[in-house]
Amino acid sequence: MADSPRQFDFLVLGSGIAGLTFALKVAHAGSVAIITKKSRAESNTNYAQGGIAAVTSEEDSFESHVRDTLTAGGGLCNEEVVRGIVEEGPARIEELIQLGMKFSERESHGHRELDLGREGGHSKRRILHAKDVTGREIERALLAAVGAHENITMLENHLAIDLITTAKLGQAQPNRCAGVYVLNNQTGQVETFSAPRITLATGGCGKVYLYTSNPDIATGDGVAMAYRAGATIANMEFIQFHPTCLYHPEAKSFLISEAVRGEGGELTNLRGERFMEGVHPLKSLAPRDVVARAIDREMKRSGDDHALLDITHKPARFLMDRFPNIYRTCLGYGIDITKEPIPVVPAAHYQCGGVRVGRHGETDLAGLYAIGEVACTGLHGANRLASNSLLEALVYAHRAAGHMLAHRPEPATAGLPKWQSGSATDPDEMVVVSHNWEELRRLMWDYVGVVRTDKRLKRAQTRVRNLQEEIQAYYWDFTVTSDLLELRNLATVAKLIVRSALERRESRGLHYTLDHPDPVDALAQKDTLLRRE
Ligand code: SIN
Repeated sequence: MADSPRQFDFLVLGSGIAGLTFALKVAHAGSVAIITKKSRAESNTNYAQGGIAAVTSEEDSFESHVRDTLTAGGGLCNEEVVRGIVEEGPARIEELIQLGMKFSERESHGHRELDLGREGGHSKRRILHAKDVTGREIERALLAAVGAHENITMLENHLAIDLITTAKLGQAQPNRCAGVYVLNNQTGQVETFSAPRITLATGGCGKVYLYTSNPDIATGDGVAMAYRAGATIANMEFIQFHPTCLYHPEAKSFLISEAVRGEGGELTNLRGERFMEGVHPLKSLAPRDVVARAIDREMKRSGDDHALLDITHKPARFLMDRFPNIYRTCLGYGIDITKEPIPVVPAAHYQCGGVRVGRHGETDLAGLYAIGEVACTGLHGANRLASNSLLEALVYAHRAAGHMLAHRPEPATAGLPKWQSGSATDPDEMVVVSHNWEELRRLMWDYVGVVRTDKRLKRAQTRVRNLQEEIQAYYWDFTVTSDLLELRNLATVAKLIVRSALERRESRGLHYTLDHPDPVDALAQKDTLLRRE
């Protein structure tokens, strides 16, 4: 089985909202394999607390949602893309509801209506949510539908290693994507998959930073593979730091949703001073880049190792009902959010750049599409507006499916070679991998974090280059493992983030550097594009 390529009409890498939605939309037209590196529900989507931003209320308007998105994006959004996604939003939401998604509702004048939350940068209440476990509920609904479809094969514990391109095979140009090498973690074998259309839906790269709200799977696999295969990568300097992750020695990656500030939560320092006053008219509910930088500044100024988020003025019953997951999780760490402020710190949260795509999620490598967080569509610009990403994932899954169904695929490329492990032996010292994981994540946090300088970025560049050399040598010498493959991807993504940050010689949105503190007119609307030589 491991010797001959497994053939499908559609290959999807990733099982979050984008990958699952896409799979459901193409499955009637052919066989679909969803390749996912852990269990099927283990995706960034699953951990989304806030919700999906969409215009569903009569008090809201497309114009207002577009304006808020453009404002957050710091002059770098593609307005046409923004408008398209915002206007298509309600139809995609309706499909999700038809599929079984249950959003929170409330009683209003004797009838039930969607309960709309508010988050930073939004001038209206427009966040559809399922209490504070929106992502979990989305995954539940989508996985139930996927599980019931006979054309969809779900391959869990399968980690994609690299895309197979015709250029790599030495075949005639133009280059196109023909398949994927995949490590089957159940057997330890590398399998070859062939498909004329491959969709990256692999999520983001939060694990490249020491502190992140993301789960362990977020290792930038899609961006790294696409870059190695020759696709264009855009705007990787724009990494969004969420202002409020739980600060507790035992808590790993637990987010305190922005919706808590949307319901009136106030940020203070450890002396109870509201340091957001005077920073931004929206105070604690300012856009994320502003809030994350203000917390960072306040912590550096005071020497405190965290800030506080206080929502104790709200009735305990309301908090337990609106934020059951946050309430229970914090209580598990000994923090009763109804009675005391929550200790918080900023942490890496969202990758606003990614594999550059056109209107239908198509990359510039034929046969390869990218949707969801892995893609850079032009929606987020220099800073993502809260809860816009799940909407973008729905819209682009729909468009990519439509595009593929409307175009006859190239025939599958014949003769994909099987994986060559050469003279690789079993790894001798896994300490090399664990040490490099830690070093990479710490240096990215220290030198390429919320506030940057040229000197720190150059330092990071040298360190990342050294790590990459060591990882590459290890990669050639030893049989591949998940940890090694993820580390290799993280190092590639780290290189792309640092290079992009060095190229943007201004401060804009999420990229803030003390050496170039102001935005530069000539760089407005200019994406940072990287492509492997
Ligand atoms: C949150 O709940 O604060 C996260 C929402 C988002 O990142 O869009």
